[in-house]
Amino acid sequence: MTRGPVDATTTDAWKALTELRGGFEPDLRSWFADDPGRASRFTFEAADLFVDLSKDLITDDLLAALLALAEQVGLESRRDAMLAGEHINVTEDRAVLHTALRLPASASLVVDGTDVVPAVHETLAKMYAFADRVRSGEWKGVTGERIRTVVNIGIGGSDLGPVMAYEALEPFRHPEIECRFISNIDPTDAGQKLKGLDPATTLFVVSSKSFSTLETLTNARLARTWLLDALGDDVDSAEAVKKHFVAVSTALDKVADFGIDPENAFGFWDWVGGRYSVDSAIGTALAIAIGPERFAEFLGGFHAIDEHFAKTPLAQNVPALMGLLNVWYVNFLDAQTHAVLPYSQLLHRFPAYLQQLTMESNGKSVRWDGTAVTTDTGEVFWGEPGTNGQHAFYQLIHQGTRVIPADFIAFANPAYPLADASDGQSIDVHELFLANFFAQTQALAFGKTDEQVRAEGTPEHIVDARVFSGNRPTTSIMAPALTPSVLGQLIALYEHITFTQGVVWGIDSFDQWGVELGKQLAVQISPAVSGDMSTARQQDTSTQSLIAYYREKRQ
Ligand code: F6P
Repeated sequence: MTRGPVDATTTDAWKALTELRGGFEPDLRSWFADDPGRASRFTFEAADLFVDLSKDLITDDLLAALLALAEQVGLESRRDAMLAGEHINVTEDRAVLHTALRLPASASLVVDGTDVVPAVHETLAKMYAFADRVRSGEWKGVTGERIRTVVNIGIGGSDLGPVMAYEALEPFRHPEIECRFISNIDPTDAGQKLKGLDPATTLFVVSSKSFSTLETLTNARLARTWLLDALGDDVDSAEAVKKHFVAVSTALDKVADFGIDPENAFGFWDWVGGRYSVDSAIGTALAIAIGPERFAEFLGGFHAIDEHFAKTPLAQNVPALMGLLNVWYVNFLDAQTHAVLPYSQLLHRFPAYLQQLTMESNGKSVRWDGTAVTTDTGEVFWGEPGTNGQHAFYQLIHQGTRVIPADFIAFANPAYPLADASDGQSIDVHELFLANFFAQTQALAFGKTDEQVRAEGTPEHIVDARVFSGNRPTTSIMAPALTPSVLGQLIALYEHITFTQGVVWGIDSFDQWGVELGKQLAVQISPAVSGDMSTARQQDTSTQSLIAYYREKRQ
């Protein structure tokens, strides 16, 4: 039975946090100067992740109050309910079990009367066997050629995870198979991604949990037409679709209706949310790219953090601590956004991936019992890899007027260990890169005082412009290298951070009703866009005028 949420704002811990906020004057300079143990006391490890919270705006009292808050809202019991398969996705009456996707085959988890682990591993085995056949060239297209390009067609969780991980794990990819990703219903996306492809060597993976998403089905139909037109009349079209299309979905009946052989379909379950599905068969394109062994390591990384989240006391539990800190920033320090700044070019899609994970999960105004939230929820997650961001938006993080908590992510070992030897001495470029990573969090924490600025001989009238206030909160996350396992660990870390915040706010982090209205209206408006005047006249005057402009200008 799902219990109603505790209103966090009525707890003693919230009162304690409110009091702490009252007299709160963050001073990272003194906090570090007066407390040599600060860095080690606020640094935690979870599997391969080394997480330094010491440059966050945190004190021992504050941490104690946040831990009390976690206890008073029942974070651990809600976590245990999720891991046990209770229907904590209340509005959809579903279990939330992405963690089951990465359980070892020896585990058992009975949900609604069925052990889900054997089915998870059966599907993995089927996906792995398929990936091996494509990788080895055994899987042939309709003309007998091996597959050289895999095109994933999906959107949201059926795209963002696979594309992000494909980019992140580039050094582990099969050298002769390229993956492309079509997501947008903007025909430019399909047009660009299909350009230059040889249909005889192209395989489409249609990824859609519901198999009813307008964008994905439209793009899948475009791809099917493109394939059959390009292959010509000599080829049997049913056979061509069979050899060049596979699907991933929970709706296998709809997959069959599309014409895809159910033998070539990989299933998953309604207890896997779209944004939590990269570790299900939705990762098929990724499994082809990096191979089953690496995919299994990826799942192992998720599982290591699941274990940490499930079993580590909250005072050392990294996802719980980071989630609680985010609550502090959002609800007490008025942070509205949260930056994620990977010092890894390979993670260039990670912030976009986290946008769906965090914002689709926690952008809610109603709690899981249907009552209104009692405090702000959600933050805008955003970011770009360093050092590119340094030359774009870091100015605002350093000297702007808003609190922007930022997660800095870096790896000890580079994927490409290049040295710059042009000046006679060899410079390890990764070290230059990391020097920036270390420097930025230092600058944000400790700033630069007016005395320091004056001591540099700065003219008085520009002293203030060159002062850095410091006390800008950052979390540093490091790992030995960006391996499949470490990527899985990072994703699971953010999944559980998101969960922690959702529990404090009392919201269902696993539904996404907020995306429905726009979808419905698009279907209703569509005839007006094509010239149906009676539908056009039913629209508001702004929409009528915009459609009229479109119809006038469209050639
Ligand atoms: O944007 C809403 C959403 O339902 C996401 O949650 C989901 O990841 C995406 O659409 C794609 O859905 P599907 O996998 O069913 O095509």
